[in-house]
Amino acid sequence: GPSLRQLAAEKGILFGSAVSGRRASPFDDPAYRDILIRECGVIVPENEMKLYVVGGDPKRPNFAPADRLAAFARTNGMKLRGHTLLWNRVEYMPAPLAAQIRAAGPERWLRDYIARVCTHFPQVYSWDVVNETIDPKTGGLRDTVFTQTLGFDALRIAYEAAREHAPRAQRVYNDYMSWERGNETHRAGVLRLLEQFRAKNVPVDALGIQSHIGTDGDHSDAQRRDWMQFVDRVTDMGYRLLITEFDVNDKSLTGDIAKRDAEVAAIAKDYLDRMLSYRQLDQLLFWGMIDKYSWLQGFTPRPDKLPQRPLPYDAAYRPKPLGAAVAAAL
Ligand code: XIL
Repeated sequence: GPSLRQLAAEKGILFGSAVSGRRASPFDDPAYRDILIRECGVIVPENEMKLYVVGGDPKRPNFAPADRLAAFARTNGMKLRGHTLLWNRVEYMPAPLAAQIRAAGPERWLRDYIARVCTHFPQVYSWDVVNETIDPKTGGLRDTVFTQTLGFDALRIAYEAAREHAPRAQRVYNDYMSWERGNETHRAGVLRLLEQFRAKNVPVDALGIQSHIGTDGDHSDAQRRDWMQFVDRVTDMGYRLLITEFDVNDKSLTGDIAKRDAEVAAIAKDYLDRMLSYRQLDQLLFWGMIDKYSWLQGFTPRPDKLPQRPLPYDAAYRPKPLGAAVAAAL
């Protein structure tokens, strides 16, 4: 049958996946590589463009791991997304690096870093310029060396630097505020941030909705209505939309695998139907294609220790109902 990439393209949507060159690499796994080449019109490095991989040394940036993925995309006619220029969370900024940044002057440092990374990857058509800067507990900006010293201006500087050094690339704000109950403060904070971007003329084109969804959340009608209202507010402000990191956590499901897979597929179909009803949504990326390589295996293991099944292909590279659900939604 047609690939997900082809089905999506017929709807004007770019379909793809995150790819890791490290933990599970397509370079060591030909079956995985073939699935990526067949299904994906775009790939995004899962970790290789992050500060904690690239490093802060202007003389010796570690670009090799991402370069390898960029070459893989180029060779196989896939586009390349960039993730991410400023992951504004202390957890992902090594302390020695934060100290260096403070000493160097955060504004100068940030401009130089973004210039360096954007210039190195001219192939990237869409950048997650800033990732996860809203604190889900308060709805305010997370504290890092950048926001402590520059406040909101840190974000303006990041987007302006991206515009200067990757002028043709789409500029995205990416975050995980999901449709599940308990995310109200996070969503409200993201809306305020998007409003501030507009009020202060910060050049942001789109909201990346990570979409790490799960089978365990509250998916009542009221909950779904709230979610659609959130997305309406975003599109009313003129932002485009992307699903950037789709996967379906199934740690709440017990029982046999066929039943689990069917439930995962049903939730995904419902979510995608809603999201694809927005003409502003033109990119759909999974956070991996093969269950066994999903970050969720380590990040949120199932209580019964069985593998999670959050992605379109199983450990034996067989397509699952989740992929069929995507195809049906497209
Ligand atoms: C995750 C990767 O999948 C892991 O391999 C890594 O250890 C931590 O980061 N939101 C994001 C992504 O924006 O960068 C995260 O990726 C998943 C959550």
